Amino acid sequence: MIDVLIGLQWGDEGKGKIVDMYAPNYDMVARFQGGPNAGHTLVIDGKKYILHTIPSGIIHPNTLNIVGTGTVIDPVTLMKEVDFLKAEHIAVEERLIISDKAILIMPSHKMLDEYFEKSKGEQKIGSTLRGIGPAYQDKYARIALRIGDIFNADFDKQYQALKAQHLIILKSYGINEADLEKLQADEINCFEAIERMRKLRVDVIEDLINDGLSKGSKILAEGAQGSLLDITFGSYPFVTSSNTISASACIGLGVAPQKIDRVIGVFKAYMTRVGSGPFPSELDNEIGETLRVKGFEFGATTGRKRRCGWLDLNLLKRTIIQNGVTDLVITKSDVLNCLPEFSALSTDGQLHSFPSWTEELSTITQYDALPENFKSYISFIENDIQLGVNVISTGPQRSEIIIR
Ligand code: GDP
Ligand code: IMO
Ligand code: MG
Repeated sequence: MIDVLIGLQWGDEGKGKIVDMYAPNYDMVARFQGGPNAGHTLVIDGKKYILHTIPSGIIHPNTLNIVGTGTVIDPVTLMKEVDFLKAEHIAVEERLIISDKAILIMPSHKMLDEYFEKSKGEQKIGSTLRGIGPAYQDKYARIALRIGDIFNADFDKQYQALKAQHLIILKSYGINEADLEKLQADEINCFEAIERMRKLRVDVIEDLINDGLSKGSKILAEGAQGSLLDITFGSYPFVTSSNTISASACIGLGVAPQKIDRVIGVFKAYMTRVGSGPFPSELDNEIGETLRVKGFEFGATTGRKRRCGWLDLNLLKRTIIQNGVTDLVITKSDVLNCLPEFSALSTDGQLHSFPSWTEELSTITQYDALPENFKSYISFIENDIQLGVNVISTGPQRSEIIIR
């Protein structure tokens, strides 16, 4: 049985924290799409871990972590993460399996990302510039290199052929001498990382997962980004380059739809977005700034300021339906008391105001002990979207959680 956990907004909903919390209940945690554009934060006993490629189940000794077929992988970022986790005494090599079919992000993909973005001017997407778009472009153009290719005797030659194609495009954008030098330096680092990757476990993960399923294994599929950044259903073109909704777990792991059991949807008590694109309930003012400061709304991957705004239940209802959410998790509820009152857009587009509370939610462990004003906000959400909120996250720490 597979449960899928996805973000219901524009990413950074707190997926990493919730995956880490649930991971001990599963035999495997598997990323199924996206790449190092993701930044998933875990805070355990005060120590912060930011994961870009490696699934958020990696801290737990008995959970296997799979980087699935639908992902794109930057060898340098991956090996940095491996080193960081090893320095924290986490047996990452024993717990990590990488799909042979995942796509390689090479230095020229990152440079293409930069040139494409620059050429868009005012219309820029606000990409993380991690090479995600160009790598997926190559996948669908059927010219990409896959992780399995790193074991080929002529891998170098394959890369040179791909690079030649990238250079044609880069030259048409007027690539300069300094960039070409940078590319060569980045290639040296990349090939060093690839050499080290050859010692990691690379496997046919779709077989491994289906075999596990036939033996009763429990698997948690960990989404990256959020539903509003989905390549098809998001605010195109201000989206990422993969399908981020729950259905993508089938494609990204090679499993049949009827194997999916629960769909856990994570959303923030307010909303944030990094990069460009529409944001109907955005607060481009002091209130937004107050939320950003208390919520520490800075990108886990790029450090950019996240745009802040009110919870938009109209958008939330849509993403709940598209994902088939069965279980709802609200995060960052503790942030709202930085304001005396706050608002939310209801499904019919009306703006509703709510009085805040003075208590710090992070110290509360029982639902009944939560402030009445907070519980009224939860009831309002539940009535409007017609679905119960099962889990309330009250702080960044693993332990700051209330399960109803
Ligand atoms: P992800 O990409 O969905 O995994 O989310 P990020 O890690 O990018 O961003 C979420 C941020 O909020 C991180 O800094 C988390 O440590 C933090 N966080 C998660 N849940 C909560 C919560 O309930 N309250 C507060 N205050 N912070 C939280
Ligand atoms: P996690 O998994 C928030 C955004 C970027 C940009 C757009 C396209 O941490 O929730 P890309 O690099 O994919 O070309 O960028 O998508 N974006 C994210 N925003 N959280 C993420 O991941 C994101 N991954 C991409 O800011 O607007
Ligand atoms: Mg993030």
